[in-house]
Amino acid sequence: MIKVNENYFNLEESYLFSTIAKKVNEYQIKNPNKKVIKLGIGDVTLPLIPEVVKAMKKAIEEMGQKETFRGYGPEQGYDFLREKIAKYDYQDKGIDIDLDEIFVSDGAKCDTGNITEIFSKNNKVAITDPVYPVYLDTNIMCGRINKEKPVVYLPCTKENNFMPELPKEHVDIIYLCSPNNPTGATMTKGELKKWVEYAKNNKSIILYDAAYERFIQDQNTVHSIFEIEGAKETAIEFKSYSKTAGFTGVRCGYVVIPKEVKAYKENGEEVEVRKMWNRRQCTKFNGTPYITQRGAEAIYTERGRKEIDKNIEYYRENAKIIKEGLEEAGFNVYGGINSPYIWLEVPNGKSSWEFFDELLENVNIVGTPGVGFGKCGEGFFRLTAFGDRENTIEAIDRIKKYYKK
Ligand code: MLT
Repeated sequence: MIKVNENYFNLEESYLFSTIAKKVNEYQIKNPNKKVIKLGIGDVTLPLIPEVVKAMKKAIEEMGQKETFRGYGPEQGYDFLREKIAKYDYQDKGIDIDLDEIFVSDGAKCDTGNITEIFSKNNKVAITDPVYPVYLDTNIMCGRINKEKPVVYLPCTKENNFMPELPKEHVDIIYLCSPNNPTGATMTKGELKKWVEYAKNNKSIILYDAAYERFIQDQNTVHSIFEIEGAKETAIEFKSYSKTAGFTGVRCGYVVIPKEVKAYKENGEEVEVRKMWNRRQCTKFNGTPYITQRGAEAIYTERGRKEIDKNIEYYRENAKIIKEGLEEAGFNVYGGINSPYIWLEVPNGKSSWEFFDELLENVNIVGTPGVGFGKCGEGFFRLTAFGDRENTIEAIDRIKKYYKK
């Protein structure tokens, strides 16, 4: 008799964003004339920049010619893209990263999920609460987290400015995300230093999700964990073109695993994590499409960088509109400065889901209930700045009208 992976029954019944989509869909079927504005899932609305479109078109043409056609590409990514990543995202910022420490992929969601399989199921995992659900779910799926082996939660509350405190106990795998999804909080150099130190002393690894790095404006906030001394021995960094370059539908990102990052066999023997990931990718991944990687490469040209900056500026302005509008309406608001996410406190002691229903039914706006990201998210709510400008303005006007009365 075929058996299933019973770890799946330890998961919440449905993935957060699927539950929201279902609820919104049901509402729209019942109320076809209502204009619902979606500021829930962090999906971009601006189209691909012209520089990317041009590069991808050219790549398609190449694929249609016998002389320039390409079959399987390198599992680790083409050097033309890894060279740009190494130069522009690291070396130009004073961080020494080699090409063979970079692995191009189909996005940070897959990478943060897939990386779990090269580590032992006996590792103790720490995640922030609230958290991007993928970190938790993927560890539950593989049986690393369950009732007998509970996760160590690192509460991020308004009392601690949404900054996780070091665990009192030993943990092996630590997930950090900065700028944070969902709270929008960003870790300073000082904060990160503490974590790198902890990881070093505990022989742990930090899985650092920097998918929203491009939104950072503060000087004191790092763009890469490798700016912190010692991080090259203790951290793996995940980056994504989804929010940076509007690639949510294209799919491309990358992981950086420095050679110095080591983990251990049961017998204590040291292992280079990068080599294990490389081995995993060679077996399970046939590389990110050539056309996609040419598109990603184009964001590093001078024109590409300018066009990307313009898009980021557009979303930043949306974030400002949301943040200031909500403050005017009397809400307590967090995030939205170095991040495209605005984290607001639900008023009048309502729960996150009660507020979700109230916003959907009375103001026709969709957001994400904070509790969907973890217990500490209860009483909070996330709005995204990735909507289009007109809708963002309209949504905030509606909220102001409804809540100011
Ligand atoms: C979010 O809304 O949290 C993100 O868009 C989800 C993702 O990047 O997978």
